[in-house]
Amino acid sequence: MFHIEESEINQIRENADIVEIISSYIPLTQKGKNYFGVCPFHNDHAPSMSVSKEKGIFKCFSCGATGNVFKFVADFENIGFVQAVKRVAEKIGMNLKSDIPIKTETKHQKEYQIMELSTLFFQNNLLTSEGERAMRYLKSRGLNETIVKEFQIGLALDKNSLYQLLHQKKYQDQLLFNLGLINQNGLNFYDVFKNRIMFPIHNINGEPVGFTGRIYLPTSPPPKYLNSKETIIFKKGNILFNYHRAKDAVRLEKKLIIVEGNMDAIRMSANGFKNTIALMGVSLTNYQISEIKKLRVPVILMLDNDRAGATATYQLGTILEKEKIVVNVVRLSGEKDPDEYIVKNGIDAMQENLNAAISFLEFKLSYLKQDKNLEDSEELANYLKEVLNNLKETNDPILQDITLKKLNQEYNLSYDILKEELNRYEKKKQLQEEIIKQNLPKKERKNKYQDGLNHILYFMMNDSKYIKMYKSKLGFIENPIYRNIANEILGYYEIKKKIELADFLSYIETSKLKDEVYELIKNIKDDNMSEKIMEEYIISIKRIRKEKEIERLKEEQRNELDANKKIEIGMRIQQIKKEV
Ligand code: UTP
Ligand code: MN
Repeated sequence: MFHIEESEINQIRENADIVEIISSYIPLTQKGKNYFGVCPFHNDHAPSMSVSKEKGIFKCFSCGATGNVFKFVADFENIGFVQAVKRVAEKIGMNLKSDIPIKTETKHQKEYQIMELSTLFFQNNLLTSEGERAMRYLKSRGLNETIVKEFQIGLALDKNSLYQLLHQKKYQDQLLFNLGLINQNGLNFYDVFKNRIMFPIHNINGEPVGFTGRIYLPTSPPPKYLNSKETIIFKKGNILFNYHRAKDAVRLEKKLIIVEGNMDAIRMSANGFKNTIALMGVSLTNYQISEIKKLRVPVILMLDNDRAGATATYQLGTILEKEKIVVNVVRLSGEKDPDEYIVKNGIDAMQENLNAAISFLEFKLSYLKQDKNLEDSEELANYLKEVLNNLKETNDPILQDITLKKLNQEYNLSYDILKEELNRYEKKKQLQEEIIKQNLPKKERKNKYQDGLNHILYFMMNDSKYIKMYKSKLGFIENPIYRNIANEILGYYEIKKKIELADFLSYIETSKLKDEVYELIKNIKDDNMSEKIMEEYIISIKRIRKEKEIERLKEEQRNELDANKKIEIGMRIQQIKKEV
């Protein structure tokens, strides 16, 4: 683990003006004490992010993104904390005592090294005389040398030359086998990839983890693309092809384009649509979804122009929308995929398609129609049911109205009946919500409890006088997560004898509780602080605590058979009630 001394981190933070640093990424304007800018961490339109010079933190009051100067740089540039410290130091012209290499990931270094070496080897093959035919194939597909270089495209030869190279470099056979580069036949080892054009695949952080190899000779046996097997570093479910190259462009364009095939992503990127990634298959794991979500931009799904592509669009769009990601759709016509579309029709035509992307709802309306004979009244009714079900989920009255009017015109159905039917669906939904609401009192109390603790702990992160109040007036917290955060704060204070939020946020970067602390700060909507407010929160927590105790005792009383004991518990309840 590369490490920067804590004192050094503090020194850098104290010398870095957070307003100046953030200004180098996004424009800020001053309003009173604070500075405001358009938040880069969600699809923001108004300037929702405030930056406090005094406190040394930023906070978006719309999406809740928050942290100190390092956190901003880390999240903006999608780099680790240590890297961000280094970047900030560079920006203010400070030299770090310890030199940190660009990549801080220390796990699996050897594996990455082998993949790197293999990539270079494949790249070199393409430039030799043995690579001429492959190069011709690439050129015939319009992939020139610049693109070949950018995507590190290479060539696996017919011989076992990769194995020979890596063996000579003293890498263990077992390791090479585990990485999916070689196979074993009796005592002999041989290359897995032969006579294939090799495309390296990187993980989210840009480390090379595997390959996909395409045939280019008419005589080659299928499959068309051969992928690395799953290995310790190559997990299909963790990979989005081209993500590491695309992410900066995604930030700039405020859009992420998702295509099906690697070739589509390469073609798009090579033609200026650099904010494009490709799926590894046509489903998404939770990990992949979370990486997409992190980009905080709307997604354009532009999958293949066949039936499978439409089905995948429907499925993926549904999953992504559930995660509150804005989904738009492009369905190309004519050519089979974005790659062929650009080759045949050019960049401008592609741009027009992207500009004309439709909402996911609009896509669903036409998708649900396919295979249905809407002349048949039963099938039409089925279709309408599906549409209304989808409509009710949108919660967008204007969109609902437009859609109902469309249906009214297209199928000559009474607008009023459609409207009534939608209302019925809405009612059903409301009923479900009502049931949820009935459990509200308990939930409300839980919220109040959480809100109280959020504030108490937040106050403690800001000023030691609140730590003292906590110690003398509250003392402990029963919820383990909050208790751990409190202990973290107390531990920090114990060492430093003082506390400041921006500095504490550097400190928790190495703590397991990092996410919990950020989540907590996110939930602080009003950060007015005073001893009086702190006192009120403490009282409210104590009250809730007692209410809970009373409930517990009542339950105990109900279950108690001994009459005397019942009375005894009753008296205890009365006692606590008096205190409340
Ligand atoms: P396609 O057959 O659509 O490939 O498969 P493509 O992108 O158009 O490739 P070109 O243009 O013929 O070179 C889409 C994706 O499915 C996977 C690959 O990830 C490919 O990018 N695939 C396809 C395989 O893994 N193996 C195959 O044999 C074929
Ligand atoms: Mn293709």
